Amino acid sequence: MTNTNEAANAFINQDIISVTQFNTQNLEYIFKRAHQMRELVERDGASDLLKGKVLACLFYEPSTRTSASFIAAMARLGGRIIPITQGVQFSSVSKGESLADTIRTLEQYSDVVVLRHPETGSAQQAADAANIPVINAGDGTGEHPTQALLDLFTIYEELGTLDNLKIAMVGDLRYGRTVHSLTKLLTLYNVSLRFVSPETLRMPLTIMNEVIDAKLEVRETHDIADVIENADVLYVTRVQKERFSDMKQYEEVKGYYEITPEIMKQAKSKMIVLHPLPRVGEIHYDVDSDPRAAYFRQVKNGMYVRMALLAAVLGK
Ligand code: ASP
Ligand code: CP
Repeated sequence: MTNTNEAANAFINQDIISVTQFNTQNLEYIFKRAHQMRELVERDGASDLLKGKVLACLFYEPSTRTSASFIAAMARLGGRIIPITQGVQFSSVSKGESLADTIRTLEQYSDVVVLRHPETGSAQQAADAANIPVINAGDGTGEHPTQALLDLFTIYEELGTLDNLKIAMVGDLRYGRTVHSLTKLLTLYNVSLRFVSPETLRMPLTIMNEVIDAKLEVRETHDIADVIENADVLYVTRVQKERFSDMKQYEEVKGYYEITPEIMKQAKSKMIVLHPLPRVGEIHYDVDSDPRAAYFRQVKNGMYVRMALLAAVLGK
């Protein structure tokens, strides 16, 4: 009981900026609550746990899942939202207002802010300016901590464990913030990692060093054939076109990988394929009917995890 209280207290009024804030006890708490949120939604559809609470959603970059799932999470828990998700060009940001002033304004109306921004470190800057909790919904190539939470929750829900798994991450490991957050989070568990990428899109050295410091077994390759037979989780990602300054370089690596039904034939019968989405050709549509294709279940888990996180941050 004390442990649960400690884990619950660890979230109250806290900013969620990086996965480095979490320990396995906190994660267990969030996953337990996310599971309860699933039961709640399946049973009743909604509750009034966050009645009277307001979430400001501020997105300086495009989003479908993160924005919609935070909005749905708040709606399912009886709270309200301020949506600045359909282009900040319609807000006073287009008049030149700073991030700090925008956040200081939104906190006058709301209890928590969710921010997506193209610059690494912007979520921390916003948190420094704010007196209410700020949740990082993706800061440039930095982190996407709530995505990593839902990724890990999905692995646990699908495979029943987070230990002794072989997890292969495929695609743009250089610019993809989801794989940065997920890798850091996985250093808390006993897993072995396989990083599959073109040479120019390898996992950054700083993150490789964290993996090595955590004494996880890790190998890098550019060939899916090296990992497909043994993987328990195949985490596929999009090449992050918007992060390239040289479009010629992007053209060279786009379309480097495509998971097809043929490739899936070589995988274990109990493995899962995840993708943070959107996909732009990395997973063939014919894979969708394979029961191991878990990416839309992963999408749904995003709502449950964000319901749990909002409730925890707001002390409910
Ligand atoms: N939606 C994820 C992100 O915003 C992954 C992606 O866009 O490829 O980081
Ligand atoms: N996974 C994810 O962050 O999706 P969006 O970019 O659509 O929010």
